[in-house]
Amino acid sequence: MSELLQADSLYRFYHAGDDETLALQGVSLAVAAGEVVAVTGPSGSGKSTLLACLAGLDEPDGGMVTLDGERLSRRPEAQRAALRAGKLGMLYQHSNLVGHLSVAANVALAQRLGDGETGESWRATLLEHCGIAARSAARPSQLSGGELARAGLAVALANDPPVLLADEPTGELDEVTAQRVLALLRERADAGAAVLIVTHNPEVAVGADREIRLLDGRVDPTGQQASS
Ligand SMILES: Nc1ncnc2c1ncn2[C@@H]1O[C@H](COP(=O)(O)OP(=O)(O)O)[C@@H](O)[C@H]1O
Ligand SMILES: [Mg+2]
Repeated sequence: MSELLQADSLYRFYHAGDDETLALQGVSLAVAAGEVVAVTGPSGSGKSTLLACLAGLDEPDGGMVTLDGERLSRRPEAQRAALRAGKLGMLYQHSNLVGHLSVAANVALAQRLGDGETGESWRATLLEHCGIAARSAARPSQLSGGELARAGLAVALANDPPVLLADEPTGELDEVTAQRVLALLRERADAGAAVLIVTHNPEVAVGADREIRLLDGRVDPTGQQASS
């Protein structure tokens, strides 16, 4: 199966008093190995909710998420966490690093939490590749914004995951670092990963293979385009 990430009819409702927000109203999507997909849409259209459901950090009220052939939805949190650790790399706008550990120790920790198939030499290569090897002994508080982003990418790639999810990965980055992060995500796709990027940045969307536009919790049928 080449669809590494699949969402089938995801629904998510939020209730506050008498108010009901229909954050996701039947969102289906699939990202295949080798593909980079951008998810765009106005503020409030459901992007963050979708990402949380795809990562198994939130449980949809209906529908199902499948990760590398395994169902992620409707499982105990411990099982979801184990699947996530081994199969999913997540890149947040804000740091995914543990504050009191060095960069290298953060990557090692992510490796231990994962399926344990990548080892020390993968770690060294990864730190080199992300351009953070020279700062691998530093703690997050000692890093610049660009360095933090590259260290965060190394953590996301610690287990060479088949699926990568990124939330506004270029949001607060300078142009050079943003390009580097995007190039590394593309490289993982070329190596066979499925990459999904939530973004407001039109340049990022244009650089993706495909754009999925959300509107009011639904996939906008007129907004689905293949980028050239
Ligand atoms: N925890 C929550 N409680 C209530 N409503 C929420 C919650 N999270 C999101 N929403 C609502 O769900 C809708 C989708 O939000 P969100 O997924 O954050 O959109 P986006 O990321 O595209 O801006 C919005 O109307 C938002 O106000
Ligand atoms: Mg959001």
